[in-house]
Amino acid sequence: MGPVIIGTNRRTSAEVTRLLNLGAVVSVSRRHVAVLYSRIEFVTISFHWSSYSLHVQGNAIDEMAGIDLKQGKSKPGDFDAVRKDIEALLHQPDYDDGSAGPVLVRLAWHSAGTYDTATDTGGSNGAGMRYEAEGGDPSNAGLQHARVFLEPLKAAHPWITYADLWTLGGVVAIAALGGPSIAWLPGRTDYVDDSKLPPRGRLPDGAKGAAHLRTVFGRMGFGDQEIVALSGAHNLGRCHGERSGFEGAWVANPTRFSNSYFKLMVGVEWREKRLANGTTQFVHVDEDLEEELMMLPSDLALRNDEGFRPWVELYARDRERFFEDFAKAFAKLLELGIKRDKEGRVVNSDNVKGGYHSAPKKSDRPGKPDDAGDGEAEPLREENKKFRARL
Ligand code: HEM
Repeated sequence: MGPVIIGTNRRTSAEVTRLLNLGAVVSVSRRHVAVLYSRIEFVTISFHWSSYSLHVQGNAIDEMAGIDLKQGKSKPGDFDAVRKDIEALLHQPDYDDGSAGPVLVRLAWHSAGTYDTATDTGGSNGAGMRYEAEGGDPSNAGLQHARVFLEPLKAAHPWITYADLWTLGGVVAIAALGGPSIAWLPGRTDYVDDSKLPPRGRLPDGAKGAAHLRTVFGRMGFGDQEIVALSGAHNLGRCHGERSGFEGAWVANPTRFSNSYFKLMVGVEWREKRLANGTTQFVHVDEDLEEELMMLPSDLALRNDEGFRPWVELYARDRERFFEDFAKAFAKLLELGIKRDKEGRVVNSDNVKGGYHSAPKKSDRPGKPDDAGDGEAEPLREENKKFRARL
């Protein structure tokens, strides 16, 4: 069989050709298809970044991901090796603003933000987004990018659970992008089926206001101050029309963790804008950068609400205080639903009964296989179909 082709657009044609010549796993993107079509024997091509599958074949994955992985070298429990590899994968020149960090932060948050204190369900234990029931929640649209970014690490450190990897990804990304260092403990397990997943719809809706935020975050056990601090993560990353309907970044430098989000929220004018897709958001045109920045209705709800506003103002003027409060709240978020003994060992029943159960690496094929429950979510398959149709 010839080389296995995997979609990625991070390489020049010359690099791809060199990899092909190595006879190993190589990557192909729309850019490269023309170059490669004549040369391949077996192809698994997905034409959209979000869905490419990583195929591990010997050490070729190091080449593929373009990062210096310590494949096969880390011993179970060597979380520092994983941290280093997460740092190494953050630089992604052809993705969004050049960093995988923001979407990793969102993956960590959405993996944990389903927690419900009343029923003790949801949360980061279990890595439920591996299953369609949770991964296919429209709120999670786009997070397949983050999961795919982390697949080479799962291949390189197969002992780590997805639940630990996804949460650690967020923590490492925040620190690497200039944010605070956040306490993180391992021990989460991967559920073996989807029977314990929370219902969809627990994550917040950017089109809604203060009452909604208090309901959603109150369910997780967060108060006003923590809601505002956590929302400060919108210093990072951007909205994507095809994922959430909203468009654009909150700040001019969305790969640098700072308190700019709060400064802008109270410091400049925001005007309502209706996008072509019918979504309403708020925008501010930065004259110097000639760039349009955005706020979600839920972001501006923080500025407009009596209980939230003092925290917004505090974080706008006191960056250190924001970093401190954010670090505490984010650490708490990732621990929701995780019970530990005095030594820090997780004592949730699944973890005690099943041990540190690390799910096998996800399928190398893009899309959700019809007969398997561990593939990507339905919206992604639809998205892929659309991309193929355009070619
Ligand atoms: C307060 C309620 C929140 C709402 C309504 C909300 C909503 C959203 C929406 C609509 C997007 C754009 C998604 C896309 O189109 O790709 C987004 C992105 C993002 N959110 Fe939030 N979010 C909230 C809280 C949080 C929290 C608590 C965190 C983390 C602590 C967070 C971290 C992020 C990050 C890092 C991105 C950028 C992702 C990327 O660049 O791909 N958000 N959020």
